[in-house]
Amino acid sequence: MRKEVRVFAPASLANLGVGYDILGLALDSPGDEVIVREGSKPGLTISLIKGDGGRLPYDIHTNTAGYAALQFLKNHGWEDLPIEMEIHKKMGMGTGLGSSAASAVAGVFGVNAYLDFPVDKAQLLSYAVEGEQKADGAYHADNVAPSLFGGITLIRSNETLDITHLPVPKGLCLAMIHPQIEILTSESRAILSPDVPLEAFIHQTGNIASFVAGLYTDNFELLKASLHDLVIEPQRAHLIPFFPVLKAMALESGALGFSISGAGPSMFAMCEDIAVAESIAEKAKDYYWRKGYESNCFTSYINMEGAKLITE
Ligand code: HSE
Repeated sequence: MRKEVRVFAPASLANLGVGYDILGLALDSPGDEVIVREGSKPGLTISLIKGDGGRLPYDIHTNTAGYAALQFLKNHGWEDLPIEMEIHKKMGMGTGLGSSAASAVAGVFGVNAYLDFPVDKAQLLSYAVEGEQKADGAYHADNVAPSLFGGITLIRSNETLDITHLPVPKGLCLAMIHPQIEILTSESRAILSPDVPLEAFIHQTGNIASFVAGLYTDNFELLKASLHDLVIEPQRAHLIPFFPVLKAMALESGALGFSISGAGPSMFAMCEDIAVAESIAEKAKDYYWRKGYESNCFTSYINMEGAKLITE
């Protein structure tokens, strides 16, 4: 057991425009931090939550970080160990940047680190997904898996958490655009039709398969041709102010593709050149400012490390 650990779990971009609930990637920043140390009484407790504006519960049965860690401890018979956790939220909630997933990952990764890594990352995945499920009610790993492992992950089955780590072409980067409005993931999921027209299904499976092929072959042209969402984006775009204008701007500026990050309201422009991504982020910020919206626009390469120990 270590004395005290501080861990970081990064934000993530789910769906990647083409693979609803089955594709995700990790961003360099922002991300959440969790500190774990010995508690003063048996069992897991949350002693402090900062950066959430007082919105997150201290109850480990409802807090995403606490619940993920609790499931892990319980499954190993360690639930009576005196452990205390501090959660430092470094990102807003309802942003589409995988905030609850980052907390769940940091929670379970932090407790594992405190116990001196009795299990490896792969064995933490299901607990983190259960933790995130506390936030949006659905069991899907497209934010949690990249936040935990880093890189780009493909999920063949969310039920069995059968995941594949996809290759990341050199230079692939993102402009992230976050207008300061909040969209609840549960609501953004609730508006989706349960049915997909056959034509859209055919095109979309072609896009997903070709996107993955493009990653394996460093084929930016194929990535660009594939980055289209015919199923989810058309149903959610109206939730995001000026989505069509920003999309057109990003594509004209040289993005490979542009779509909604996770459940929104954040959006991403995938690029092969960081200078293009920077110019898109600047233009988006400026556009929103002129329309009276605050926004947080930034660029990121793909974080290849995922959750990590930052101090001990
Ligand atoms: N795949 C999820 C969605 C990500 O789009 O609803 C957000 O949790």
